[in-house]
Amino acid sequence: MKRTIAIVVFTFGLLTNAFSQNNDAKMNTFINALMKKMTLEEKIGQLNLPGAGDITTGQAANSNIAKQIKEGKVGGLFNIKSEAKIYDVQKIAVEQTRLKIPLIFGMDVIHGYETIFPIPLGLSCSWDMDLIQRSASIAAREASADGICWVFSPMVDIARDPRWGRIAEGSGEDPYLGSQIAKAMVKGYQGNDLSKNYTVMACVKHYALYGAAEAGRDYNTTDMSHLRMFNEYLPPYKAAVDAGAGSIMASFNEVDGVPASANKFLLSDVLRKQWGFKGFVVSDYTGINEMVSHGIGDLQTVSARALMAGLDMDMVGEGFLTTLQKSLKEGKVTLQQIDFACRKILEAKYKLGLFEDPYRYCNAERAKTEIITDANRKTARETAAQSFVLLKNQNNILPLKKSGTIALIGPLADAQNNMTGTWSVAADNSKSISLLQGLKNVAGSGVNILYAKGSNLSGDSLFDERAGMFGKLISRDSRPAQEIIDEALSVASKSDVIVAALGESAEMTGESSSRSIINIPDAQEDLLKALVKTGKPLVLVLFTGRPLTLKWEQGNVPAILNVWFGGTEAGNAIGDVLFGDVTPSGKLTTTWPQNVGQIPLYYNHKNTGRPLPEGQWFQKFRSNYLDVSNDPVYPFGFGLSYTNFTYSDIKLSDSLLKGNKTLTASITLTNTGTREGKEVVQLYIRDVVGSITRPVKELKGFQKIDLKAGESKTVSFKITTDDLKFYNGDLKYDWEPGQFIIMIGGNSRDVRDASVNWTK
Ligand code: BGC
Repeated sequence: MKRTIAIVVFTFGLLTNAFSQNNDAKMNTFINALMKKMTLEEKIGQLNLPGAGDITTGQAANSNIAKQIKEGKVGGLFNIKSEAKIYDVQKIAVEQTRLKIPLIFGMDVIHGYETIFPIPLGLSCSWDMDLIQRSASIAAREASADGICWVFSPMVDIARDPRWGRIAEGSGEDPYLGSQIAKAMVKGYQGNDLSKNYTVMACVKHYALYGAAEAGRDYNTTDMSHLRMFNEYLPPYKAAVDAGAGSIMASFNEVDGVPASANKFLLSDVLRKQWGFKGFVVSDYTGINEMVSHGIGDLQTVSARALMAGLDMDMVGEGFLTTLQKSLKEGKVTLQQIDFACRKILEAKYKLGLFEDPYRYCNAERAKTEIITDANRKTARETAAQSFVLLKNQNNILPLKKSGTIALIGPLADAQNNMTGTWSVAADNSKSISLLQGLKNVAGSGVNILYAKGSNLSGDSLFDERAGMFGKLISRDSRPAQEIIDEALSVASKSDVIVAALGESAEMTGESSSRSIINIPDAQEDLLKALVKTGKPLVLVLFTGRPLTLKWEQGNVPAILNVWFGGTEAGNAIGDVLFGDVTPSGKLTTTWPQNVGQIPLYYNHKNTGRPLPEGQWFQKFRSNYLDVSNDPVYPFGFGLSYTNFTYSDIKLSDSLLKGNKTLTASITLTNTGTREGKEVVQLYIRDVVGSITRPVKELKGFQKIDLKAGESKTVSFKITTDDLKFYNGDLKYDWEPGQFIIMIGGNSRDVRDASVNWTK
């Protein structure tokens, strides 16, 4: 029986293989024939990706871009919004160019198109791969209904430095979780068939190591050992490539002294040769030109270096367009490399079905009916609620009762334009639900909701301006700070409970939004302290795009719900969780430090030769600080619920194993509280002795379990030798025999453990 299944599977495998080979052969024949007709200029034109610039509907034909398109100098466009505009521009390409090659249309669809989901860092805290995949496929459906066939996502940069503003755009600090999310996103965008009109091509970014910018300053230098690179930073990019991502974006930063855009080691040796990447590589925005400032040559030199290193498409900078012909004449690049890059772009267009039907993604009816639908908003609302993390809930203040008077206070309380967070270029923020609106929607008529702003975003108007440059400003109240606080205190005095909506504005994270101090800004902190002083029950609803330093808040504020930027439906989803219609279940995917001096602080660190004994604050000649303990405020994986979960001891199927066996590790999880709730059960492994030093623990599995009050369930993880593998000193990916500590728990700190010996 088993054999029959094996044969069927094998034959099916051969058939699908033959099918894709046949498809590839067809594609190659088509592209070979097309490329034979192409001039050198036309080939180079395919490598050029300008921004949409000045195009408005109805004027496309007369724009500067149109002129370039007609001359065969454009391969694609990005961040142009609306099916109608895209139709107009595509028409120019297929009707007014010599070879009628369609354009590819990209966009920064990062966490949704018009229906915006939580910022990626928030989304990752759901630990729900189905939901994440669904959010990407909804984004794909909406974007493709509006003419887009290529999205600049997923952003899979591992980040351990919350000063870096772009930590908001990724999935946090862990390579294992980051890899699972990378796969889910690629599958969500691309589906099984890129040529369907509702799937889009993913673009994994920013390759590579962009999240390791020194001091958390954006675009800054990155430098790390190849061991760290392969074990800790590269896995999510590889996972996305393995999942079939059609394109990848080179990062701005340098790696080993060479900017990623011209880094042959990254783009050719690792990406193409080791990982077998078949898609195309696009630069980041003017990434090629910026290598002039990096100091590795003039525009001609850096453009030639980028091409020869394996970069295929030039975003915005026109370095390829303006210098490659000259470089070819001078022998600085080869025709073969230009052909290779051109072929990669044409292949992408072929796979997207654009040669068959260049208007495949332009359908006015779909644009009208499939974007920001009620169903999509419903999923966004559910997703947002899953991304929230309950950090503290003293005396079960939460959930709130649907009666009495609530004082909703804070600059983020009525900030509709901030709900979608960073990178939501296609969003119509007038359709977002603010917290004030959401609370009213969910509370119903039994609750009296009072509102006061309470403070400005910060005490510094220039800071506020910098933190709202892309139109998401939180307007300033010009009265003296104390007067604004007093007004809030007066409102608070009339309430049964205070909900303080504080934290960062949407643009305090994202690109070029690094901070050196990562607290709740001063003016809001003053307000919070005044509110705490009233002694009233108080819930801090924390908006943020990064981990913040919350030592004081954790010690003094009774309840804290971290809501990130939840997207279009943020306000409703926060209401759902505050009133207990949904029980929070999110878990942090980053470590939250006590202060900036502890950064980088991450759970999967090495032990060092002088580790601080567990439970200690300080010991002389140990690896620690005089002025702060080594602990975070909240560890990786942490998050509370309105119910309680207990973990039994771990049961292992074996304590001694040999070779490629499977180990089963189980615990019994019990919901000991009074409500139904979900718990993310996490599996960590420590490889006790290695040929190189190994982290004190590494996430190797997780399951999100739904339990009714009083219910128990056995949760089992299957562990194979693949889970033990790492890149060793020779950068060989393998496992080593010895002792392994298996840990299971509800966060990376509070775990049960058991030991196993595994020999080869
Ligand atoms: C960002 C990318 C983005 C690109 C196009 C760049 O500044 O780094 O993440 O995809 O712009 O908008």
